[in-house]
Amino acid sequence: MALYSEKVMDHFLHPRNVGVIENADGIGEVGNAKCGDIMKMYLKIDGNIITDVKFETFGCASAIASSSMATELIKGQPVEDAMKLTNKAVAEALDGLPQHKIHCSVLAEEAIQAALEDYKTKRYK
Ligand code: FES
Repeated sequence: MALYSEKVMDHFLHPRNVGVIENADGIGEVGNAKCGDIMKMYLKIDGNIITDVKFETFGCASAIASSSMATELIKGQPVEDAMKLTNKAVAEALDGLPQHKIHCSVLAEEAIQAALEDYKTKRYK
C-alpha cells in the first residue's frame, strides 16, 4: 500500500489557499519543536463567517496537505464550526495519514485555533 493517499498527494502537489492575507482578522503561527515544521494561518472574517483563509507552511508533505485540507474545511464556515475542527477530521478528509504523520494534522488544528484566538483577542480588545 502507498504511504500516502491520493488526496494527500493531491493537496501536497496542488495545495489550496497558499499565501498571505493582508490585514487578516486573525493570524496563528505554530510549530513542532521535534520536526521543526512551522505553519501560519491567516483568516478573514466577516460577520462571523470565515470568508477567506490562507496559509504558509514550512514543513513536510503531510503538513502541507493538512494545511491545505484544513483551509478548505473551514472556508465559508462560521467561526464556531471552525473552532470545532479537529486534527482527526483533517486526517479523515485526507483519507488518512500514516501513524507517524498524525502530528502534522495536529499542527493544522493548532494553527487554526491560534488564528481564531488571535481574532477573538483583537475583536474584544
Ligand atoms: Fe512535522 Fe510533518 S513531520 S509536521
